Amino acid sequence: MQLAQKLLKEDLKHIESCFREYLTSDVPLIRQMSDYILVSGGKRIRPVLLLLCAHLSGYEGEERYPLACVIEYLHTATLLHDDVVDGATLRRGQVAANVAWGNDVAVLVGDYLFARCFEMMVDFCDRRIMQVLAGTTSLMAQGEVVQLTNSGDISLNEERYLAVVRRKTAALFAATCRCGAILGRLSPEKEEALAAFGMDLGVAFQLVDDVLDYVADQKESGKVLGRDLDEGKMTLPLIHALRRCRDSEKELVREIFSKDVLGDEDLAFVQQLIGRYDGVGYARQQADYYAAKACSRLQDFADSPWRRALVDLAETAARRRC
Ligand code: IPE
Ligand code: IPE
Ligand code: MG
Ligand code: MG
Repeated sequence: MQLAQKLLKEDLKHIESCFREYLTSDVPLIRQMSDYILVSGGKRIRPVLLLLCAHLSGYEGEERYPLACVIEYLHTATLLHDDVVDGATLRRGQVAANVAWGNDVAVLVGDYLFARCFEMMVDFCDRRIMQVLAGTTSLMAQGEVVQLTNSGDISLNEERYLAVVRRKTAALFAATCRCGAILGRLSPEKEEALAAFGMDLGVAFQLVDDVLDYVADQKESGKVLGRDLDEGKMTLPLIHALRRCRDSEKELVREIFSKDVLGDEDLAFVQQLIGRYDGVGYARQQADYYAAKACSRLQDFADSPWRRALVDLAETAARRRC
């Protein structure tokens, strides 16, 4: 991500001011809460991707700024809702909005952000971009619903897990890269290649997020460890461990998943199991695989600083610690 940050220094500075400027609501609660969640940072990986793909596609116009805002708002709205559903208490290193203001406010401000996205798309974006982002929003919502229906199911396999990952996370990465290509009016083949790059990168990104949920340093990740287990969410480190462990160990995991409230010892047991059967190693290896696959999608693009920054971003995203 470092290379991208260097290349996009001016763009990114401008975008930070756009994040506030385009939030035009005069409702104090909306302003307060959006300031809180937007200014608290976040890695801004999606706006970075949009800008890199737009530049790579030869686009230098102004539309990239509101579009980067739309994509970050869309992401932020899903985070607000996701934290309510996941019962998260910490986000971006600070008390999660659903805890600071309550679930009702978090859901409604999330709705506002979604609505603002569509308002802005009508004002700034062409029909194809609206189509792509509207379809993606629908995919993401479906991904979260399928994930909810999968929760507590310890027979969930890697394939069904990946189907959720593609919808809830990777679809927005793919759409973001596709929008960059659309701005630059790339050929259909190149547009597909950038979208495929985003899709593979998005999978790698969520795989690492799921690894970090078991092994991160809370100060670095800005999120509480063990939330996925707490929510009965089956992710790849555990799916892999369960494939390899003994029946007696699987039975213990089943018992843990049937509890309403988990203790520290439950998380410790699952962490040990994952350690014993190298669930983290396997998930990291898969993340590397998807990141490499993402990079291979760029083969038909000529060497340029933008292309190099995309490759660097894919490689570092697979190795990130936050
Ligand atoms: C968190 O996204 C949700 C996932 C898709 C894993 P990010 O890790 O991009 O969150 P921020 O924006 O940097 O806080
Ligand atoms: C990603 O999944 C959620 C969205 C795509 C909104 P997670 O539930 O793992 O994300 P975090 O860990 O809460 O950021
Ligand atoms: Mg979550
Ligand atoms: Mg997570």
